[in-house]
Amino acid sequence: MERQVVLITGGASGIGYAAASAWVRNGLRVVISDINVKAGEAAEHALRAESADVRFIPADVSSSSACAGLIAEVMSRHGRLDIAFNNAGIAGPAAKVADCPMDEWRRTIDINLFGIYYCLAAELKAFTAQGHGVAINMASVYGKRGVAGGSAYCASKHAVIGLTKSAALEYGKKGIRINALCPGFIETPLTRGIDSTVPTSTMDALVARSANRRYGSADEIAQAAVWLASDGAAYLNGTAIDVDGGFLAA
Ligand SMILES: NC(=O)c1ccc[n+]([C@@H]2O[C@H](COP(=O)([O-])OP(=O)(O)OC[C@H]3O[C@@H](n4cnc5c(N)ncnc54)[C@H](O)[C@@H]3O)[C@@H](O)[C@H]2O)c1
Repeated sequence: MERQVVLITGGASGIGYAAASAWVRNGLRVVISDINVKAGEAAEHALRAESADVRFIPADVSSSSACAGLIAEVMSRHGRLDIAFNNAGIAGPAAKVADCPMDEWRRTIDINLFGIYYCLAAELKAFTAQGHGVAINMASVYGKRGVAGGSAYCASKHAVIGLTKSAALEYGKKGIRINALCPGFIETPLTRGIDSTVPTSTMDALVARSANRRYGSADEIAQAAVWLASDGAAYLNGTAIDVDGGFLAA
């Protein structure tokens, strides 16, 4: 049987890299994409230690033509695309609504929302032509809850869930599944970076109130993505799954 092909945007770091690694271990043909060429090439090199079937294709998801070109390149190299993990994203500006630099607000929406929309639109054309496909769109617990000082991030992630539900309704009857993933606080460069939307002390306090009382690992989110894409999750469509150590239960 021909091996499945998976594409992961934002695959050079954090959750995207962990997911790429998990799919490599499961024997899939893996394409990682990222705006960061140096980190993408390093990730490709590291993953090639486990499988020769790993490719890095650079792309900026905030560009519609780059996203269309990315999916076209995957199709031309592999002839199929079975799973797309639309994961690339940024933390966005940390500022109150009235104080937020508008260009940073717009950039967050461009990457976190339009980035997913551009990729998903191209993926759905490929999925429709081949008669199957699974897309996983990266949202967040902040796609379901507000966060003071993070309106752009929060708005982008809420919108990703709406996009996911609508797309599932449009394409479900064609054998295509589209779901969103809502991680809680995961230890990655995004939460540990200096430009993180929520200060570390605030995050620590929020994590302390969650059921599991600890940060998640990138691999714990990767495992959820692998399952969501599998046949075991065949009846999940248009949903947004919380993988948050019980953060939203509080
Ligand atoms: N870490 C968390 O706690 C957490 C929680 C909920 C949701 N998320 C979401 O998970 C996703 C991955 O985050 P992470 O924590 O692994 O962060 P990360 O910073 O480790 O990885 C994000 C990757 O996306 C890439 N990227 C950024 N802008 C891009 C662009 N314009 N085009 C292509 N690639 C781009 C980065 O270069 C990086 O490699 C994001 O969408 C984030 O919002 C993370």
